[in-house]
Order: sequence, then structure tokens, then C-alpha cells
Amino acid sequence: MEKIIDENKQGERLVIEAKDGNTKKLFIESYGCQMNFSDSEIVASILSQEGFNTTNTLEEADLVLVNTCSIRDKAEQTVRKRLEKYNAVKKDKNPKMKIGVLGCMAERLKSKFLEEEKMVDLVVGPDAYKDLPNLIEEVEDGRNAINVILSKEETYGDIAPVRLNSNGVTAFVSITRGCDNMCTFCVVPFTRGRERSREPQSIIEEINDLAKRGFKEVTLLGQNVDSYLWYGGGLKKDFDKASEIQKATAVNFAMLLDMCAKAQPKMRFRFSTSNPQDMTLDVIETMAKHRNICKYIHLPVQSGSNRILKEMNRLHTREEYFELIDNIKRIIPEVAISQDMIAGFPTETEEDHQDTLSLMEYVKYDFGFMFAYSERPGTLAGRKMKDDVPEEVKKRRLNEIQALQRKHSHYNTLKQVGQTQEVLIEKSSKKSDAHWSGRNTQNTVVVFPKEHYKVGDFVNVKITDCTSATLIGEAVGYSENN
Ligand code: SAH
Ligand code: F3S
Repeated sequence: MEKIIDENKQGERLVIEAKDGNTKKLFIESYGCQMNFSDSEIVASILSQEGFNTTNTLEEADLVLVNTCSIRDKAEQTVRKRLEKYNAVKKDKNPKMKIGVLGCMAERLKSKFLEEEKMVDLVVGPDAYKDLPNLIEEVEDGRNAINVILSKEETYGDIAPVRLNSNGVTAFVSITRGCDNMCTFCVVPFTRGRERSREPQSIIEEINDLAKRGFKEVTLLGQNVDSYLWYGGGLKKDFDKASEIQKATAVNFAMLLDMCAKAQPKMRFRFSTSNPQDMTLDVIETMAKHRNICKYIHLPVQSGSNRILKEMNRLHTREEYFELIDNIKRIIPEVAISQDMIAGFPTETEEDHQDTLSLMEYVKYDFGFMFAYSERPGTLAGRKMKDDVPEEVKKRRLNEIQALQRKHSHYNTLKQVGQTQEVLIEKSSKKSDAHWSGRNTQNTVVVFPKEHYKVGDFVNVKITDCTSATLIGEAVGYSENN
């Protein structure tokens, strides 16, 4: 889920329109995955009912909330620096300011934040945001407040998110929460709890509402979207105990995608993240069937070595992954695929690393998100395995993986030069105000002269040039979807 949010956006403040009559000021920023950014929109919605409007100015905030990430140690360090900054502003300029921690670090460190750090007044885990009004009342009365209870049911399906910092064109809609996979390196199952799915009707309603307000693209979010399963509520792992009627009327991910694509035929749909062991042929065929489901799959693999995949508790082999890739490319020839990789997982040898590089050669991913292994306390790998790959070896292997990915990205963008592609315009190009920036169905960024087009238009663009990450072209007219 760390994917589409680009690094520059990390920590970006989120601004919403002020609600009349609200007098308190909320400063909220988010780190980490798309789910955190989406959750902050839920939090802003809950607090807008409690008299808070958001502000960009830290100094004037009554309440500062930071939505945090625990996925790697570096992510936690970044948040700690921000907490120091808030405390400095509180001390020097605004002693009445209250400070709260949301998200995965809140869940992981729990009351430690209140006891040891003395840096925060409020600690709220990802499933407890509906309790915020009570918790804030406690804090306003001068007491510290904490709720880190994980839920079996909470999906926030009944809360209409306030779209923060929005371009008015693309939006995230979360469809599942939590993860049951227990990859041995990953802290998410501990911080976000067991996997549960959101009611399809509430998803469709949110999408219909976005369409009405002019949004053109929705990304369905979950730690493991392919494992989406609605059978009337409850945990995914309890599905076996469901009644025959519940089983017969259950909605899986392929069915949900089909419902979304049909509900809003002019809207584009993306989804993230897919887990190889849970992605079915049905999903791939549903993607192929609908022109408005984007031809892009984020399919993290983490390693190309069967031995390491097993140590990671990734429940598939290299060969099974290749079979899935072959099926995807056969059914959707124009598809783009991206990866997540971890370099230097405990016990990883040079041979294991070579297996990762050769897997990449086979797939030739369009994009990649690559990380050096970071031991997380409490995970199985953290408890049972020694973090024994030296830092400089991790770094060197990571560099090799990144260099190979750059080569493959360029190989893939070069193949698209000469094509005419449908692009949804999202914003001005970072490098030139005379150019638009949007994405094609494969999720590659396309930049082209603005002419008379505007944000939110679907435009056909003839691709004339490229770098490894960006396609450059010229618009040739509106697309039929416009
Ligand atoms: N299924 C989730 C995965 C979240 S974590 C999703 O929706 O994307 C995102 C990526 O961070 C993982 O795929 C993995 O490559 C990386 N990651 C997770 N834990 C890590 C760790 N302990 N060290 C390094 N990278 C890690
Ligand atoms: Fe983490 Fe594996 Fe789930 S990477 S989020 S435990 S699929």
C-alpha cells in the first residue's frame, strides 16, 4: 500500500473545506500507506461533527493528529521527529495544544507513548476512530486518553469520508481492513488486526457519490484485496462457520469489481494490493472484461528464492508465481505489473539474491517498491531469526535490485512510444506548468502540453518519448470515455 502515494506527499498536510459553525482547529498529517491517508479522511469526517475544521498552520491548532506507520524502523523515526517538532511548537507558542498519535505506531506502542515518551495526550489505534469524540473530551478535561482495541467488525462503512487534499479526480475507497496472512517480516497483522470486509452496498454508494461529485477514478484499498469476502459481516477466517444462505450470497473480489465497473461505467477503477496466493483467474478475467478496470496489478513477491519465500511465510513458490504471471499476461496482454521486494531478509544468501534478480528478469516489472529488511519487534522473524545480513550487503543487494528495476521500467516505457493511449488528467506536471500530468491505464505517468484540456478530462495522447518513469506525448483529442 505504500505505492501510489509518492514520497513527496508523505507527511503532507490535508486541507478540507471549512464547515460553517466549527470553531476548533485540527492539524492532521499522515505517513505511510494509502490506507492511512484514507483513514485520515474518516478521522476528519468524524471530527468535523465535533466542531473541528482543519488548518495548515501548526501554531494555531487546538488538536494535532499524526497518522503513523510502523512498517519499517525508518518510518517510525520520521514520526518521532515530527512529535518532537509538535512539542517544541506547543512549548514555545501554543501551550493549550493537544497532541495525538493515530494508526499503526499507536497500536504497536500503545500506552508506552503515554508512559515513556510524555510527548502525546492521545493514542488511538486504527479500529478506534469512532471513539475519538469521547477520547477528545477526556483530553480536553486534562486527562490522557487511549483506545487501541482492535475490532472484528469495524470497517467505517457508515462514515462518509471528507476528501482531504483532493484533486477532485481520484479517490481511495477502502474495502477491507486488517490482514490474516502473517508474513513473518510484517507488523501489519499486529497493528491492523484480523481481516474483515466492508459491505458491498456501502462501497457502491460511496463510489456513486464520488461520481456525482465529479470524481473520475477510484482505487479500491485493502492489505490484500483479492481476499475480499462479504457474507454479512464478521472476520474472513470465520467464513466456514457462516450459514448456507450466507455462503450462497457471499460476494468475492471478482464480483465486487464487476459490481463497481457496472455501477459507474465511465469511472476508472484500480485496486491495491494483490497477494499472489489469493489472486484468482476470476479476478483477472473480470479485469479483462471491463475497459474501465485499469490494466495494472501491484503483485508484491518480496523474494525470488523458494527458501526465503518459505521463511517469509509467503504461501506460494517461485514457480506458482510464474504461472500466475503467465496467466495474467495471457489474459491481459497490455497489463502492467509491479513488485515489492525485500533485500537482506535473515539468512538470505548470494544465491537467494540471484534468484530474486532472475525472477525480475522473467517478469520484467513496470514499477517496483524495494526495501532493505528492517526487523520489526513482535513479528515472527523478529522473534525467531537473527537479522544476520550485514547492512552494507543489504544495501548493495538493494541497489542491484533497484538498478535492474530501472532497466526494466525503461524497457517497458520504450515499448509504449508510438502508441496512442487514454490518459486521465490529474494535475499540472511538476516540472512544467505548461504541461498536464495524468496516468494511462497501466498506471504510468504521462506528461503532455495542456492546450485547451482540463483536469478530469480523459484524453487520447500520442506517446512520442519517454524516460524510465514517465511517458511524454501530445494530445490528439478527447477519448470516447470523456
Ligand atoms: N499487503 C500490504 C503490504 C504492506 S507493507 C499492502 O497492501 O501493500 C508494504 C511493503 O513493505 C511490503 O510488501 C514489503 O515489501 C515491505 N515491508 C513490510 N515489512 C517490511 C520489513 N519488516 N522490512 C522491510 N520491508 C518491509
Ligand atoms: Fe503484511 Fe503479508 Fe499482510 S506483507 S500486510 S502480512 S500480506
